[in-house]
Amino acid sequence: MIDFITSIPWYAWLLLVVFAVAIRDVFFQKAHTISHNFPIVGYFRYWLESIGPEMRQYFVANNREELPFNRIERGWIYASAKKENNYEGFGTDRDIYAHHHIFVKNQMMAYEVPDNHPNTEDKSFVPCAKVMGAYNKRAKPYRPASVINVSAMSFGSLSAAAVEAMNKGVQKADAYHNTGEGGLSPYHKQGGDVIFHFGTGYFGVRSAEGSLSMEKLKTLVENNPCIKAIEIKLSQGAKPGKGGVLPGAKITPELAEIRGVEVGKDVLSPATHKAFKSVPELLQLIEKIAEATGLPVGIKGAIGKLDQWEQLADLMLKTGKGPDFITVDGGEGGTGAAPPSFADHVSLPWVYGFSSVYKVFLNRELTDRIVFIGSGKLGFPAKAAMAFAMGADCINVAREAMMSIGCIQAQVCHTNRCPTGIATQSQWLQNGIDVTLKSERLAQYFKSFRKEFLEITHAAGYEHPCQFHMEDIQVNVDDTDLNRDLRSTYKYQKNPIPFNGVQELYDCIHLGGKSVTK
Ligand SMILES: Cc1cc2nc3c(=O)[nH]c(=O)nc-3n(C[C@H](O)[C@H](O)[C@H](O)COP(=O)(O)O)c2cc1C
Repeated sequence: MIDFITSIPWYAWLLLVVFAVAIRDVFFQKAHTISHNFPIVGYFRYWLESIGPEMRQYFVANNREELPFNRIERGWIYASAKKENNYEGFGTDRDIYAHHHIFVKNQMMAYEVPDNHPNTEDKSFVPCAKVMGAYNKRAKPYRPASVINVSAMSFGSLSAAAVEAMNKGVQKADAYHNTGEGGLSPYHKQGGDVIFHFGTGYFGVRSAEGSLSMEKLKTLVENNPCIKAIEIKLSQGAKPGKGGVLPGAKITPELAEIRGVEVGKDVLSPATHKAFKSVPELLQLIEKIAEATGLPVGIKGAIGKLDQWEQLADLMLKTGKGPDFITVDGGEGGTGAAPPSFADHVSLPWVYGFSSVYKVFLNRELTDRIVFIGSGKLGFPAKAAMAFAMGADCINVAREAMMSIGCIQAQVCHTNRCPTGIATQSQWLQNGIDVTLKSERLAQYFKSFRKEFLEITHAAGYEHPCQFHMEDIQVNVDDTDLNRDLRSTYKYQKNPIPFNGVQELYDCIHLGGKSVTK
């Protein structure tokens, strides 16, 4: 018998296996029509489909074709993060007549940095021109020392190694790190300034009833001086108004401790908040948090309907109180996981959302009280110039920060199989991250960004990007005017920001960033 089996050649065994699979495809499986109708060859279709994204990314897509970030954009971030040559040769490959293409209007003679100016020594020193919490006289106001910062991304959606690299990176770049919804983890406490962010799950500051525990929040802030401000998440661009469930199986003892939930038990992040149910209640909560912690308190939202924003602005006018900062997220924003119907369609893209909500506050002369933060693919200097011209004071970046530490846009954050170890909890995959090296990369991306942003600012004749206004940027529009400045496109003028020179920002006692040398 053994002799008979060993006398059968290998290709006969192969044919036998193929034949068996074909029999199974045709007679015993009902799940896949293609493999029933085309046994064996049908599998090639599934395989080719599965490697399609990589094939298109590596070989087929042109440099400007892909979304969310095309190859040129990714390449610029990679080169900037590695301090490599991030220039382009031969001239632009963009269709500069395309709809929505933006132009920064240069000054006839660029701004000349005088001697003894903070930027003669540090060409990437670009702090925020406004102080969070100054108007509302919070006990601990905060001036972000960098106009570009890490946007909300939780430990849980990102790996421990990625969060640690980002926090060490922001420390090196004097920026801040927003915790995202998953609570303050040890990986967020590596020396960088932190904005503590919570959503409807109240992770890290959750009461037994699943609402906000003010006591826990107070203790958290007291024990962690790295927390410089608090952000209440109302919504994010990729999935506004969408709740979520964190399955018990994913809740390890470490995650349970950080998030303040029970090991192994499903946790619900509802679509709405328990700690407030109306705009007046939100305003009251902001004040309570600011009183209890002394910190500036802000809100983050994606923009759709404006009536509740108008109610908020009216109440701010009436009471003299309100959020210290507002983060406006664009509908193009990223996420660890969201249904495509939400990611693709719910909430407005950044330019439309920001312009409409800014006008709500501008019309009531409230913009001086608020630090406006923008997020939604703004981590490129010219895009940031547009955002500042429209009224943004700072920008937050999420996916750009991920790319600076090695994300390849595999778009599998929701599967726990991120090949770069960034958006996964797999120990094996994150072991590939060299935290020190990646923290340098993030810091270098921020510094390269700020340097180039400042160069664009100087080319426009300004000392600081806060001086950009709507007429400084033109945008191609698809109508008979063809190309208009932002003011006539979005129908408002940004309120000028009081600015007396970068030296004053440099000397500010509220300036954040641990490694600022004075
Ligand atoms: C992996 C990942 C996790 C995120 N987690 C949160 C979160 O916890 N809370 C939140 O408000 N936004 C979250 N966001 C959205 C980002 O903070 C940001 O608003 C959005 O991605 C737009 O910025 P970007 O275009 O620079 O990525 C997450 C985004 C990503 C990519």
